[in-house]
Amino acid sequence: MPQRTPIILDVDTGIDDSLALLYAAGSEDAELVAATCVFGNTEAATAARNTQMILELAGRGDVEVALGCEQLLHRPLRTAPETHGPLGLGHAELPAPRGSLSPRSGPDLIVAEARSRPGEITLITLGPLTNLAVALEREPDLPRLLGGYALMGGAYRASGNTTPTTEWNIHCDPDAARAVFRAWGAAAATNPAVSRPLALGLDVTEQGIFLPSHLERLTVRAGAANPIVRYMTDALRFYMEFHERYDGFYGAFVHDPMAVAATLDRTLVRTEAVHVDVETSGDLTAGMTVADWRHLTGQAPNLDVAVEADASTFLDRLIDRIGGLAVARSGMAL
Ligand code: BDR
Ligand code: CA
Repeated sequence: MPQRTPIILDVDTGIDDSLALLYAAGSEDAELVAATCVFGNTEAATAARNTQMILELAGRGDVEVALGCEQLLHRPLRTAPETHGPLGLGHAELPAPRGSLSPRSGPDLIVAEARSRPGEITLITLGPLTNLAVALEREPDLPRLLGGYALMGGAYRASGNTTPTTEWNIHCDPDAARAVFRAWGAAAATNPAVSRPLALGLDVTEQGIFLPSHLERLTVRAGAANPIVRYMTDALRFYMEFHERYDGFYGAFVHDPMAVAATLDRTLVRTEAVHVDVETSGDLTAGMTVADWRHLTGQAPNLDVAVEADASTFLDRLIDRIGGLAVARSGMAL
């Protein structure tokens, strides 16, 4: 058994978030401590329900799922039904969750788990950073209490996918992203035990393109009738149709599982340390991640930004881990 990294996934589930949950469930080197849910791809309550359904599909109904922030403080809520479908999981339909949501809120869960296992847990945010920003208000020492923090979010040299300069997760709550990046920067500057967050933006996640041929490999491995394969087929069909309409290819960027994969195995990405702040007020640029690549501001780096990814190893591993999970689950009552 490999050494297991304890992780909390903060998700706005979402098709690619669902693949990240399946990836984590299929990873022997991950201990999935909990999932906290936020608005983003869909409303937070729907994201929480989707998260429960996916974890139950994966045989991980034991994982605590907490509802987090349902609104932003200062901006209107946006969701993305055109990208992820009216309920967030494309064309897929899953049985209603059997389990209950946690009595804890998402931010409270993050704070309590970090306090109970100081320096051990890695938080991975795959949606807007609102839950984490609220958790930081409640526990400013979170950068030290967490063993690590990684995010899917931002467009550091790449163009945006929501506006020309903004990536969806940061776009949805720029104030939260700014608070998080600044807090980690301040903590890392004063405490050498605090490591910089690992940031996977569109620069690398758009190299992870899941194609029909990848789905075919998964189908060969686990069988078309397998419930996880059936789920992926129906969810990804919607996601691929979306990318065909907006990006000109029939396939899908699988942003969120790449962030989980790179957290568990840093060799999948090459990073550069850079100072990043978030624009919160520009008419054209609110939500832009402004990276000081040329060190013009004199500010110390606060993020390790992924600048290259081994996308083909990542995609092979995605198929291997979710395929392995699907095979292990076949024949079990769902
Ligand atoms: C991010 O936005 C969402 O649509 C995806 O789930 C991913 O987290 C990509 O910009
Ligand atoms: Ca997401």
